[in-house]
Amino acid sequence: MSMITLEKIVSFAKRRGFIGPSSEMYGGFESSYDYGFLGAELKNNIKKSWWKSMVQIRENIVGLDSAILMSPKIWQASGHLTAGFADPLVECKKCHHRFRKDHLKENKCPDCGGELTPEKKFNLMLKTFLGPVEDEAAITYLRAETCQGIYMNYEFMKDTMRLKIPFGIAQIGKAFRNEITPRYFIFKTREFEQMEMQYFVSPDDKEKDKWFEFWKKERMNWYLNLGIKKENLRFKEHEKDELAHYAKKAVDIEYKFPWGWGEIEGIHDRGDWDLFNHAKHSGRDLSYFDEAIKKKFIPHIIETSGGVERALLAFLIDAYQEVKGGRTKTTESVKEMEVVLKLHKDLAPIKVAVLPLVKNKKELVKKARQVYDLIKPHFMSQYDEAGAIGRRYRRQDEIGTPLTITIDFDSIKQDDLTIRDRDSMRQERVKIEKLVDYLCSLLK
Ligand code: GAP
Repeated sequence: MSMITLEKIVSFAKRRGFIGPSSEMYGGFESSYDYGFLGAELKNNIKKSWWKSMVQIRENIVGLDSAILMSPKIWQASGHLTAGFADPLVECKKCHHRFRKDHLKENKCPDCGGELTPEKKFNLMLKTFLGPVEDEAAITYLRAETCQGIYMNYEFMKDTMRLKIPFGIAQIGKAFRNEITPRYFIFKTREFEQMEMQYFVSPDDKEKDKWFEFWKKERMNWYLNLGIKKENLRFKEHEKDELAHYAKKAVDIEYKFPWGWGEIEGIHDRGDWDLFNHAKHSGRDLSYFDEAIKKKFIPHIIETSGGVERALLAFLIDAYQEVKGGRTKTTESVKEMEVVLKLHKDLAPIKVAVLPLVKNKKELVKKARQVYDLIKPHFMSQYDEAGAIGRRYRRQDEIGTPLTITIDFDSIKQDDLTIRDRDSMRQERVKIEKLVDYLCSLLK
């Protein structure tokens, strides 16, 4: 098997309709990508799976969908408009390329060897103007992290959902950062999605440590349970000088990308930074009265914060396998390398493909279409009659479809079909009347 490079993944993602460059007809737009049908499905499945594991199965965590555009006062209070949320920027005096100072190994431009300007702090907030007049009063910012919307709704959610500490509020949504050096495809972009959960706990150190360790484990298990290989994941603790302005303690979950280890999610002890500062700046009392111990305090926060695109890239790379041709035993496949995308069934964009053995036999096509109509309300399915059957199997393997159904001549007489498993390639005959229940048992 040859090496899996990022270039290979980028070209595969485009060729099979997962992800393509944005604004392509105008020459593209740096750091922006669009998700085709399969990419959008994969993204949705990641989000669904996160929501299920963080909200649906947890009695004390509720979900939220807050606004992207919020009062700029929030970003003042949260520390994002001050030095806390800025990267050190240097520019080459000769070629004018810009770099993050902390990413450079030497004091010369890595592109042309030119002299660099002194370091300037570059704020990452994406500024915009609301309304017709572009003056200071109209300035606001696209949110840089979704959790600020959670803090804004802390009281609303606590009161309406009758939440008692410890409890969590979870949200998935877009975030924006004016990154100086977007790179590695969808890994670091200026527009991305976050899946964040804020767990409100008592300030007691023992309690906090307990929940920090709990969420570290839970989040790592989420990636493992969705099929990422153990050897490609690790924890990386932040040194004191690496901590974000709000964090008291932080650990990253890192994935072994083709270019090296990279953060896919962070677990942070944010202390009382957020509620304390929002209480101070807004004049609202955000303290919590704990009936059990008859004490009032500002809750502390343990945060889990993952990126949808980074998770997607890790899932895609981890599932991508090149195998020697011949898996599907067709003449043309013997010569070529075949791609099999071994995505977890919960993430696979298409769950079931329906293929008539040949397309020029009316009864076969009719039966196959009936089967497709039967299953499509239950599972994201695809009907495909174009090309040789081996080629069609390969097309489904490439996009990670876990199950492929074939309708052959016996199907017409026996009212049954074969189901082929993507990974074991085992085939099983199943009666059509039992099909939906059977697929449910495999896919749900
Ligand atoms: N609320 C905490 C927070 O935002 P972060 O470590 O800055 O923490 C959390 O970001 C996650 O968001 C990262 O682990 C990553 O998955 C994702 N993320 C951050 N910046 C990103 C970017 N420029 N492009 C894509 N994903 C990004």
